[in-house]
Amino acid sequence: MMTLLVTGVRGQLAQALTALSPKFLEHGYAMRQVGRPEFNFDRPETIDALFEATAPAFVVNAAAWTAVDLAETEPDAATRANDTGPARLGALCAKNGIPFVHISTDYVFDGAKGAPYLETDSPNPLGVYGATKLAGERKIGDLSARSVILRTSWIYHTGGKNFVRTVLAAGKKTNVLRVVADQFGCPTAADDLGEAIVAIVAHITENGWHNGCGGIFHAAGSGDTSWFDFARAIFEAASRHGRPAPSLVPIATADWPTVARRPADSRLDCGKLSAVYGVRLPPWHSTLGKVVDHICKSREKL
Ligand SMILES: NC(=O)c1ccc[n+]([C@@H]2O[C@H](COP(=O)([O-])OP(=O)(O)OC[C@H]3O[C@@H](n4cnc5c(N)ncnc54)[C@H](OP(=O)(O)O)[C@@H]3O)[C@@H](O)[C@H]2O)c1
Repeated sequence: MMTLLVTGVRGQLAQALTALSPKFLEHGYAMRQVGRPEFNFDRPETIDALFEATAPAFVVNAAAWTAVDLAETEPDAATRANDTGPARLGALCAKNGIPFVHISTDYVFDGAKGAPYLETDSPNPLGVYGATKLAGERKIGDLSARSVILRTSWIYHTGGKNFVRTVLAAGKKTNVLRVVADQFGCPTAADDLGEAIVAIVAHITENGWHNGCGGIFHAAGSGDTSWFDFARAIFEAASRHGRPAPSLVPIATADWPTVARRPADSRLDCGKLSAVYGVRLPPWHSTLGKVVDHICKSREKL
């Protein structure tokens, strides 16, 4: 059995990958999930030690600094987690000829294109988070011939910190909820991204590494929406569980100031992933119902 190393064990995507470990087993991989403190981008020696100890045949890096606003005041820590740390892991994979799946973000773009972004479009991050993720993906692309960089967006999951859980919790505390209606993107269920990674790992394992396998791919839920319509869909799904929906008020980005600027329209065109790997993530709203059901049925007081 080969080892598939997954970093960021408590994160949303890593949790989804953990649930998919039986599928990785079918393709010959036993999953080894690692997280802080044993694997810490702030302590580069732990990257080397874990790599040596686990001798992976495949690596998926799901660890990252994802606090977009906090990155503005903690750029060094964001750089270690999103840029230099992943690059060190990528270098180890390159040295050992191991395929490396690394996750990046729609926030590498400024959102001014006015149409879904292609992999060939020029990035122009608006904040430190996007800038550090871009620096990381560039280093990994340069270093590692066998790297697959998946840019995703608006991840949600049954656990962790995400928009679905945040608005459901807010909806319990207030009758009126103001939600930004002029930012557009592609919500992505962590479970759906996890399934896409299973398919990519299976493809590379079965067909071997070939030209076209590597590089940057956009990998987000199909379809797009605004935060406001996303919130509306969340409360619609929650209403099946008898949860009263607050009155939703659409507001402009200018009415919801944040430390870091966000792209107004970071929709991703995922055609390349479909063409190369035959993978298309399901429509974002199709998985949303399952995730909301799970949250509403759980004992959590969300
Ligand atoms: N969330 C989104 O909406 C979104 C959108 C676009 C792209 N992405 C990308 O998708 C990937 C997965 O995101 P996610 O939402 O699953 O992230 P997440 O839930 O925030 O989890 C991130 C994980 O990274 C770990 N981590 C943070 N700093 C670290 C460090 N210095 N060393 C080692 N581990 C560290 C965290 O560890 P602890 O548990 O110890 O804190 C956490 O387990 C990331 O690359 C992210 O940039 C996310």
